[in-house]
Amino acid sequence: MRRVAGLLDGVPVPMLAVDRDARVIAANALALALFGPDLEGRPFVTVLRHPAVVQAVDWVLDPEGTPAPIADPALPAPAGVITLRAPCTADGREILAEVTVAPLPSLFGRGATIAVQDRSVAEEAEQMRRDFVANVSHELKTPLTAMTGFIETLRGPARDDARARDRFLDIMEREAGRMNRLISELLSLSRVQAEERSRPSGLVDLPGLLRGILAMLAPRAEAAGVEVVTEGLDRALRVPGDGDQLTQVFQNLIENALKYGAAGGVMRVTLARIAHEPLLRGPAWAVTVEDRGDGIEEQHLPRLTERFYRVDTHRARAQGGTGLGLAIVKHIVNRHRGRLRIESRVGEGSRFTVILPEGLARG
Ligand SMILES: Nc1ncnc2c1ncn2[C@@H]1O[C@H](COP(=O)(O)OP(=O)(O)O)[C@@H](O)[C@H]1O
Ligand SMILES: [Mg+2]
Repeated sequence: MRRVAGLLDGVPVPMLAVDRDARVIAANALALALFGPDLEGRPFVTVLRHPAVVQAVDWVLDPEGTPAPIADPALPAPAGVITLRAPCTADGREILAEVTVAPLPSLFGRGATIAVQDRSVAEEAEQMRRDFVANVSHELKTPLTAMTGFIETLRGPARDDARARDRFLDIMEREAGRMNRLISELLSLSRVQAEERSRPSGLVDLPGLLRGILAMLAPRAEAAGVEVVTEGLDRALRVPGDGDQLTQVFQNLIENALKYGAAGGVMRVTLARIAHEPLLRGPAWAVTVEDRGDGIEEQHLPRLTERFYRVDTHRARAQGGTGLGLAIVKHIVNRHRGRLRIESRVGEGSRFTVILPEGLARG
């Protein structure tokens, strides 16, 4: 039995071996972690209860005396071996597993090995990918449908109505702009994700960068009736980072404050040094963008950085929002080994803080 255990320890997935009576004779450390301790001597059916898996084990132990299990055509296996997908309960957790049952090499006597691969994470990733494709298609289809409708109207009923024509062309321009923005942001997001593991190598004049964005958005702040208050932007400072990406981060946060937090009439942009930031285990710079707008209900806060997540889809859409901005922000901040903190209270306003490590050399 010890020799069987030694064999299983070399396998990188949870794996058990059972004897001719389907009692567990060995389990590797990963199997013990998945199914709990003290597996040895237990009937297999008490470890993994799924009927299809139990039948597969019986079949491998006695192929003549047991009906063959129905194989999953997507998971081909050599003769005498069966692989199937089954939901299993392990340490109280439901997992989707790919289970391979094979005869124990005859030198160990009659028995079977059962290898269990947890597919839950891969399955979840696949589901996210499907959701993402569905979201992108929907977001692109909406403006396209509007434009197609207006083209028809312009060809037909509005053909000779100059005023209507101008109005429809304006709307079409806006919808085309929305599609354009969506595609640029999607490209930007995939670029940022592809680079996420490589640390930025530049040095960025952070206060200068913030002043530049504020100067560029000043007309918009004025149009929105928002007074801009700044603090700490007059110092000289360079932080390690990627200038274009950090511009994207703060431009999005400031635009959001102007779009969604304008009701408060004031926006504060602050740059401050933190002597020791516990989350980064060292000195850091904190940039805070704060508004006194309507705020965001607590249940939305953890989801704001999800792709396409918007609190009020209708309102965000009307403001030209794609819901990708904060997802891009999060990935860029991650690439800088920084942190994004979101605090908000309904009726009081919102505060978005980006914390960047002073040095990127370590960690
Ligand atoms: N300062 C803010 N005040 C209130 N809500 C905000 C603020 N910033 C972001 N939000 C909410 O978070 C959502 C996601 O923001 P973001 O990812 O930048 O998308 P977008 O700006 O394209 O709508 C916004 O649609 C909005 O509902
Ligand atoms: Mg935004």
